[in-house]
Order: sequence, then structure tokens, then C-alpha cells
Amino acid sequence: MRRKLIPLLVIMILSAGAAFALAFAIEWLPEQASVQGKRIDQVIWLTVVICVVVFAIVAAASVYAVVKFRAKPGDEEDGPPLHGHTGLEITWTAIPTALVTLIAVWSGIVVVQNDRLPEGSRVILVEARQFAWGFEYPELGGIRTGELFLPVNQPVELRMTSPDVIHAFWVPEWRQKQDVVPGITTFYRITPTKEGIFPIVCTELCGLGHSVMRNQVNVMSEEAFEGWLAEQRAGVDAGGTDLGLRVFANQGCAGCHALAEAGASGAGGPDLDSVLPGQSAEQIRESIMTPDATISEGFSSGFMPSYSQLPDEQVEALVGFLLGAAGGSSG
Ligand code: CUA
Repeated sequence: MRRKLIPLLVIMILSAGAAFALAFAIEWLPEQASVQGKRIDQVIWLTVVICVVVFAIVAAASVYAVVKFRAKPGDEEDGPPLHGHTGLEITWTAIPTALVTLIAVWSGIVVVQNDRLPEGSRVILVEARQFAWGFEYPELGGIRTGELFLPVNQPVELRMTSPDVIHAFWVPEWRQKQDVVPGITTFYRITPTKEGIFPIVCTELCGLGHSVMRNQVNVMSEEAFEGWLAEQRAGVDAGGTDLGLRVFANQGCAGCHALAEAGASGAGGPDLDSVLPGQSAEQIRESIMTPDATISEGFSSGFMPSYSQLPDEQVEALVGFLLGAAGGSSG
């Protein structure tokens, strides 16, 4: 009896080896860059290990049965009638039940842990709309950015709202994902652990521009973030072309538009270096406030959101900056 089990064991070990190699030799997941993401990855890998073990057992039993109990050529007989095996059936019901319960309980614990942030964590307001992200920093007196800026290793709570349809906030490197639903405020709690620039992706089909509803989060060192905060405060007060460039960067215009003056190379929308020259301040302002009023050749309406919620001072600074960048006179 023991002897007969050896081929079964060999197939099992080979299948498990192949599946483990496939699971672990290839980097399936993006870099892991948050406290919460680490917990989520632990659940993912626990599930993968359980799946590989179950796969190896099923593969071994299947391959062994196919080879060993194959009908001989010319054998037209029916197989012998079998009445099952109660012990075996209890085993193959009880073990998967225990494993699935383990995954469920572990996941539940992770969800609760990931939802918990220390008192007094930084709060940032997020507005998701067709088709742009807006981030508002209460400590900056209402300044809004299109790109998210955060210090590393500090927990932060994003309070998210949408004025139009359902969107979903996702940073692959952070793993966490959360819907943004009109009419309610949803929360996204995260503690980034790595500095760098990571993509922000909308993962809920929200209309024509869903695929371009992306931006990025810039996770900085504590000092760099304090510097950025100070710069923002100064920029808001200072005004002028410098503020215009900052608004261009903060609102994430570079995500869709190319503009040499700003070092931007986005390709989702019109190339500003070619469409700006010859435009008046009024035309530029109109394109910012009501983008669908005039559509550049080759582009469709409904993609660019209106920036009419920007403070006047920032709109004027942006218009001035764009006029200057187009080679016109600033004004
Ligand atoms: Cu917003 Cu998809």
C-alpha cells in the first residue's frame, strides 16, 4: 500500500513545485508602499499558499487516476459500482471549510486594523469628479491640488466625496481601494511607507474619460513635505506667474497636456504649445472654466472637467502663466 502512494506523492510534489515557482518567481504585485498594504499582501499570500496546496492534491489525484485507472484498449465494461467513502467526504468538506474560515477571519481582522488610525491623524478632503481628482488641505486654508502630496510614515485620512457619479480611489502600491460615492463621505486611511511618486487610478467606470482619470501621489520625506507646505502657503499669498506655474502643476494639468514651459508632456489632451499661441486671455479663461465651449481638433467634449471651483486669484495666475508660455503678453 505504501509503495503505491509514492507516484501520487511525486506528482503532488512536482505540481506544488511548479505552482509555487509560478506564484513566487514572478513579481505579480507592484511594489508595496504602505502599512495597510503589507497586511493585505499577507492575506493574498496566505490564500495563494492554500490554493497551491489544494491544487497539488487535486492534480496528483487526477493525474494518478487518469494514468492508473485508464480503460484498457477493447475494455467495454462499466466500472465497478462504488458507494462513496464517508470518512473521505467528511475530510474533504471539513478541511476546505476550516481553510476558508481562516481566510475570512484573517481578512476581517485586516479590514478592522486597516480602518483604524491614531487620533489626530492628518485629514485631506478628496473630490472625485468626471474626470479629475482634487485634494484639499485644511491646514492650507483651502488650497486644492490635482496631485496628492503626503509625508512618508504619517497616517492620513482621505475624506472623499463626488458631485456626479461613483468613482474609486486606488493607489496600486498601497493596495487599499475605496469607492467615492455621491451623497456620502467615504474614508480611505493609509500610512505610506515609501517615498516616491505613485499613480492614483480611478477604478470605477465613471464615463467617457474614466481611463484618463489618473493622477499621482508624491510621498515625500517629513522635511520635504514641510517645505512643500511652506511653499504652498507662500505661493498662495504671492501671486504672479510663479503662482500660475504652481497652479498648473498642482491641478495636475501636466497629466493630460504637453507644455514646454512647465516641462509637461501629457498626451491625453491638446498639446498646449501648439493650441495656445494666438489665444486671448478670455479664450484661455473660457477653456479652463467651461472646457467644452471650444474643442480642439481631434478631441472630444466631456473629457476635461471645469476648473471653475478654483479661487479667482489662481485662475487669473494660471491664465497669465499660460499667456506668457504661449509667447503672448502676460495679463
Ligand atoms: Cu472616475 Cu472612473
